[in-house]
Amino acid sequence: MEIVQQASLLRPLLSGYREQGLSCGFVPTMGNLHAGHLALVDAAAEQCDKVIVSIFVNPMQFGPEEDLASYPKTPGDDEKALIEHGASLLYRPPVEDVYPLGHASQTRVEVPALSDILCGESRPGHFIGVTTVVNRLFNLVLAEKAFFGKKDYQQYLLIRKMVSDLAMNIEVIGVDTVRLDSGLAMSSRNNYLSDSEQIQAAGLYRVLQDVARNYQADSLSSSAVQQAALAELEKIGFKPDYLSVRRQSDLNEPRTGDLKLVVLAAVWLGSTRLIDNLEFDLA
Ligand code: PAF
Repeated sequence: MEIVQQASLLRPLLSGYREQGLSCGFVPTMGNLHAGHLALVDAAAEQCDKVIVSIFVNPMQFGPEEDLASYPKTPGDDEKALIEHGASLLYRPPVEDVYPLGHASQTRVEVPALSDILCGESRPGHFIGVTTVVNRLFNLVLAEKAFFGKKDYQQYLLIRKMVSDLAMNIEVIGVDTVRLDSGLAMSSRNNYLSDSEQIQAAGLYRVLQDVARNYQADSLSSSAVQQAALAELEKIGFKPDYLSVRRQSDLNEPRTGDLKLVVLAAVWLGSTRLIDNLEFDLA
């Protein structure tokens, strides 16, 4: 696996792949790779000749009070795992390679409306940071396909909308969330949880499953289901940020007749913010 830290060195390698007629799959990450990331690498390796991974902890998507400084970094383990999973090229730039003049003066990419709801409401500016950096990475790598985890469901939809609105020539593929046996979704932020908090955290997925079941049973009103779920989250010990049932296609509130839904939640467990979601169908 080649490791490159500068965009200027990345380009000739990628042109080489294209000249040989090799297809490229791209997996953008912030490192501290776990089974969820490696499922993205595996999906890319199945569908493409070459897998390109980026590791960049993007300061532009962290708020001033967030965990940029403490975000877990495990470069040695990441390299090893990527080699084992067949990645061909790792782009791991320093911040100056991505934002030479600092990110405050960076040209921004914003997907309106969808950036401002749910996680966007609690993390102002977060999704502009995500779409801005992913747009730049897509333009550098020029892969045919890019792979995103559905655990970050809102991010996945935002990237799809950016690609469609800007007519970018890349297919965005969503990969199912990888969970521990307990149901807890894999996340780098699980590293912040103590052993007992990890057990508690698994309760989030159980509540999402209850919401889906109750919607499907149609025995309670949708607001009663959501109120009961919020109460259950509090009982487990979470401080809920939001829990909401939305349409899978655009995260708008469901209307009568919408059959493809997703329940999304963000909660605090101590000082750790966790997100998860579950897609479900009616009828
Ligand atoms: O999901 C992530 O790890 C990040 O938001 C991403 C897509 C790599 C952009 O920094």
